[in-house]
Amino acid sequence: MDWQNQKVVVLGGSSGVGLATVKRLAAAGASVVAVGRDRAKLDDALSGIGGQVTGETLDCTDRAALQSFFGGLGGIDHLVITLSGGEGAGPFAELDLAALRRGFEAKFWPQLEAAQTALPTLRRDGSMTFLTAISARIANPGTAGLGAINGALESMIGTLARELAPLRVNAVSPGVIDTPWWDRFPASVKSEVFRQQSETLPVRRVGRADDVAHALQFLLENTFMTGAVIECDGGLRLL
Ligand SMILES: NC(=O)c1ccc[n+]([C@@H]2O[C@H](COP(=O)([O-])OP(=O)(O)OC[C@H]3O[C@@H](n4cnc5c(N)ncnc54)[C@H](OP(=O)(O)O)[C@@H]3O)[C@@H](O)[C@H]2O)c1
Repeated sequence: MDWQNQKVVVLGGSSGVGLATVKRLAAAGASVVAVGRDRAKLDDALSGIGGQVTGETLDCTDRAALQSFFGGLGGIDHLVITLSGGEGAGPFAELDLAALRRGFEAKFWPQLEAAQTALPTLRRDGSMTFLTAISARIANPGTAGLGAINGALESMIGTLARELAPLRVNAVSPGVIDTPWWDRFPASVKSEVFRQQSETLPVRRVGRADDVAHALQFLLENTFMTGAVIECDGGLRLL
């Protein structure tokens, strides 16, 4: 792919996987617009990244803001949606369903709102790529709620790939990745999960944001990929 002529929007580009994707695509020569809610965090994240990168603050739960943002872009080639929630984990018997509902509101709905409002701006044969999670398919106790959020997104990928063709629609489904997403948990919980993962995963390490960004870049540049959900999980789904 000639990245010099590609304009990419990364929703969630101020942290973690989204930020790693911004760095990768900017280094490849693409023009990248990174979106987050927090201006200071976004400016800090993007400082020092060379190439053609701009940052826009926007809350992707706000449809009017999304419409105004995409309407002002004047055409893009690729959309990457790495928006995250975080609530909704825990054993089902005690699962706080109000928290799970907030988890859907923070991830499922904004990813969909963004995908739909971007359509008029997105090149007809460009690409749209979602970030889901391997919890959708690993039947790991304590992740039924997170699995539901991400499974709902993953179940749409094939249908959207057919309905929106020639636009290509794909997803990357990560396992445990060392990003600021984990800062919402006590440090002891994070370190215990990471220790277990490093001991049990076939690859014997926790994922890095750039591992997932690499998979995302592949889906953007391989024009024969559509309707696919790539597992980028170090083999977690095999355990
Ligand atoms: N890390 C993992 O282990 C892991 C595992 C499986 C799946 N995932 C999934 O991978 C994706 C990326 O996760 P991550 O670990 O990179 O998360 P992260 O480091 O917490 O980054 C999330 C990004 O999304 C932005 N964001 C969230 N809500 C937003 C909204 N309403 N409007 C605009 N921007 C918003 C945040 O910016 P602001 O803070 O400025 O809003 C930030 O840039 C998520 O969908 C997550 O569920 C992560």
